[in-house]
Amino acid sequence: MKNILIVGGAGYVGGAITDLIQQSNYNVRVYDALLYEDSFRKPVDFIHGDVRDHDKLLQHLKWADAVVWLAAIVGDGACQLNPDLTKSINQDAVAWLADNYNGRIVFMSTCSVYGAQDKELDETSPTKPLSTYAETKLNAEKFLKHKNAIIFRLGTLFGVGDLYSRIRLDLVVNILTVRAYIEGSISVFGGDQFRPLLHVKDVARAVLMNLETEHKGIYNLARQNVRISDLAYQVRMHFPDLVIETTDMPFQDTRNYRVSAKKAEEVFGFRSIHSVDEGIEELKYLVETKRIKDLKSPRYSNQAYLKDHYEELLLKVFEEVEAA
Ligand SMILES: NC(=O)c1ccc[n+]([C@@H]2O[C@H](COP(=O)([O-])OP(=O)(O)OC[C@H]3O[C@@H](n4cnc5c(N)ncnc54)[C@H](O)[C@@H]3O)[C@@H](O)[C@H]2O)c1
Repeated sequence: MKNILIVGGAGYVGGAITDLIQQSNYNVRVYDALLYEDSFRKPVDFIHGDVRDHDKLLQHLKWADAVVWLAAIVGDGACQLNPDLTKSINQDAVAWLADNYNGRIVFMSTCSVYGAQDKELDETSPTKPLSTYAETKLNAEKFLKHKNAIIFRLGTLFGVGDLYSRIRLDLVVNILTVRAYIEGSISVFGGDQFRPLLHVKDVARAVLMNLETEHKGIYNLARQNVRISDLAYQVRMHFPDLVIETTDMPFQDTRNYRVSAKKAEEVFGFRSIHSVDEGIEELKYLVETKRIKDLKSPRYSNQAYLKDHYEELLLKVFEEVEAA
């Protein structure tokens, strides 16, 4: 049985990946600083640690045959709160990983690196990062160029990955669904912008497929490219009384991109199996069963949570690591 270290495995994507890898006859260990949680309750070997704590992380890298690297400050707004700190976690920690680990690496990047572009983009298309988040992820990719690393540029994720992990409502399908259910109306700003979408469990499948392959380099991962205005109408199929308010006023998020995920299909046969409708139903179920009560709780948004907890949480961890 091989040993898999999931760094940043306590988050939204980590929940789905941890479960699938554990069910697949690997030894799993999660390493995470728990930025958004008080504890890690999943019955999995867990190390509470920061990726910038090199001595600690090195012990666990020595154990690992493969590393799945998810740890990051995630999202444009969250990253903008403290760009220096974002850079040290999203970028410098990956540079350190490249210098100190020679096993298999599965790294999560983002389609946000494409910024705003009109044609369908593949892995050879130019990158135009519009935010600190996209820029630090793109720089991290470059550090892994000559490693035994596969890099997934993920579309915007949706759906429920597992029963334990925090759901993120700062993702478009998830928030539109929860708003539709709780408020009965949703607002669409502009609406013409495209996003590539993918179910969080499909990410886990792509990771599992590549823990032991020799595929290297960059792969886009997405199920379909969807116009935000069309997505709003798709959500209404699940809530017939839903009111959709549209406004021409563009939202401050200027990202707009469509991607091709053909390379992943051709090289390792990846095809998503979970639909957007399935994701909408899963989110609906979370509200129905009272797992989500207050959609405005900062707990569900990286930016809102970090904004409230920055001083006590992030900077404290940062100082502890520096002092170590
Ligand atoms: N969710 C999406 O739509 C999406 C899209 C594209 C790419 N991604 C990428 O997937 C990965 C996981 O995203 P997510 O949605 O699960 O985000 P998340 O915020 O839910 O999870 C990130 C995890 O990393 C941990 N972490 C942050 N800083 C750390 C540090 N210094 N040391 C150790 N752990 C740390 C956090 O505690 C958290 O558990 C990220 O790399 C992200 O860039 C996600």
